[in-house]
Amino acid sequence: MITIAIAKGRMQDGALNLLVRAGIRVSTDEINSRRLAITDETGRYRFLFVKPADVPVYVEHGIADCGMVGRDVLLESEADLLLPLDLGIARCRIVVAAADPEVMTRAVGMLRVATKYSQIAAAHFGSRGMPVEIIKLSGSVELAPALGLADLIVDLVETGRTLRENGLTVMDEIAESTGRLVVNRASYQLKAQAVGQLVNALRGALNGGEPLKGSEEP
Ligand code: PRP
Repeated sequence: MITIAIAKGRMQDGALNLLVRAGIRVSTDEINSRRLAITDETGRYRFLFVKPADVPVYVEHGIADCGMVGRDVLLESEADLLLPLDLGIARCRIVVAAADPEVMTRAVGMLRVATKYSQIAAAHFGSRGMPVEIIKLSGSVELAPALGLADLIVDLVETGRTLRENGLTVMDEIAESTGRLVVNRASYQLKAQAVGQLVNALRGALNGGEPLKGSEEP
């Protein structure tokens, strides 16, 4: 059996659709249930639905052989994983945004940056030689500038609606993100045939995905 950890939220429907297109059948009852661990109809695959940030943790520790998770999460994680496929789902951008487009020039002293992505934000501003104070939040980051908690945010943008409706403007784009298939290093060796079949089935469903070459940069 292959265990696949799937990020709950924006990725989940796209991931399940892709698995169905790859020929993996899961009963509607299972999909519609609130169970966090379900199996496909053949019993060859088990799916765990976990918080996005926990997908790399489950896969790195070998509890799950594979994971389906956004590149944003992988860039923020330090997990050592194989990254064989870009799944092309849940496409979005990681951006710097502000309420005041002139904040960079107007600010006196160190800029405060609110974000869930403290590693990505630190690397981004660090690479530009900009000292910033990172304020780590767990969500609803768009509130921070209006409430005076931060000058800037680093967050995910999909449609742009959340930014717009909270009076924020994109200042800079840090990275693009799509869903990725990640594989545990030991599973890739010990369950090579089963993992290879999964990758091939997903690649077929994607029509022309990249071949499995081993580790790639996220
Ligand atoms: C993300 C992000 C924005 C929103 C962007 O939040 O943090 O709030 O989606 O989407 P949009 O551009 O389509 O409006 P998420 O749903 O991941 O939840 P969060 O509040 O926990 O960050």
